[in-house]
Amino acid sequence: MSCAGSKKSPGDVTSVQENVKQYYGKDLQTKDDCQTGINCLKDGTPTPKHVQQAFADVHEDVTLKYYGCGPVIPEALENCNVLDLGSGSGRDCFALSKLIGPSGHVVGVDMTEEQLEIARKYVDYHTKKFGYSQPNVDFVFGYIEKLGDAGIRDNTFDLIISNCVICLCPDKSAVLREAYRVLKVGGELYFSDMYTDSLVSEAVRNDPVLWGEGMGGALRWEELYQLARDVGFSQPRLVTAKLADTSKFSDVLGGAKFVSVTYRLFKLPATLRPVSLVSYTGGILGSPDKLQFDHAKDAEVVTDGELASVLSSSRFSKFFRINDAPASAVPQTPAPKVDPVRYAEEKNRLSPCGTVNCG
Ligand SMILES: C[S@@+](CC[C@H](N)C(=O)[O-])C[C@H]1O[C@@H](n2cnc3c(N)ncnc32)[C@H](O)[C@@H]1O
Repeated sequence: MSCAGSKKSPGDVTSVQENVKQYYGKDLQTKDDCQTGINCLKDGTPTPKHVQQAFADVHEDVTLKYYGCGPVIPEALENCNVLDLGSGSGRDCFALSKLIGPSGHVVGVDMTEEQLEIARKYVDYHTKKFGYSQPNVDFVFGYIEKLGDAGIRDNTFDLIISNCVICLCPDKSAVLREAYRVLKVGGELYFSDMYTDSLVSEAVRNDPVLWGEGMGGALRWEELYQLARDVGFSQPRLVTAKLADTSKFSDVLGGAKFVSVTYRLFKLPATLRPVSLVSYTGGILGSPDKLQFDHAKDAEVVTDGELASVLSSSRFSKFFRINDAPASAVPQTPAPKVDPVRYAEEKNRLSPCGTVNCG
């Protein structure tokens, strides 16, 4: 079966990358030039106050060149070592620079010199703004399929983020394998990307604007589950999803729907925990009573081995009490496989800010 995730020949890969560099380095001047407006949509999910403040602190010149498609700032960031795949002008890196604090570190990797130039120009500005004695962020030229060439070593990061980039890469499996390699055990890949519910046609795949906007290279969402499993990650957990406004391209896209989805994947330990009793003990900024993983403070939840392993091996471990469950305990169902298009449509129905048209 041909799919957007399949490998292309090296020549194809180079020409796709050159088109993407042209698109983000030269064709687009600001986020307002994007054709789907995906980078300015709201999905009705409130952004925590401390994250809003961190974005507000990012220099306007950087924010003007923000081309991401969804939220990529998870919880529990203090002191983390973070990598941003396809960091662009650096908006998410600078917000993270504030949220991780002076003892954390962020590395942004990108292949487009014009984007790197903007990001590097504002490192000193943000270092001063956050009151740090030295920068805790740097930007490196490189291809995210080959992080080793950019000097990035095995088992280094607590967290990898990526915002609307993997859909631009012809070889998604190489990207996920590299992300897995450079994450520590318990590390998380928390990323936002474009997905579709249909098979993307040749015409769409070969159109440089549609590829540049993330649709030509979008995976059918189910394909991510197989890719993640093949690489060794935990099952993808959907954080949120929003529909893209593809009306400008309806002639060529036909009935295909496109959606920007934030997923979280974890690098699991070699041996998983058994079914466990887990309770959140509090302490994560913005999550006083419960975490996205649905653990209410002080209430014991019976979790399956995979989730218990995620919590006990990751940066979240210090915020949880985790014990083996009695043999009779029945775990909550493991992470469900959620159709993100349906999820976004339902969310849009309940709160009509699920599409780009809400601005
Ligand atoms: C849609 S923009 C997103 C930029 C940034 N994440 C943001 O949210 O503003 C995509 C970025 O990914 C970079 N990119 C695409 N493919 C890449 C690859 N294979 N290796 C490194 N960077 C890549 C592009 O150069 C571009 O800066």
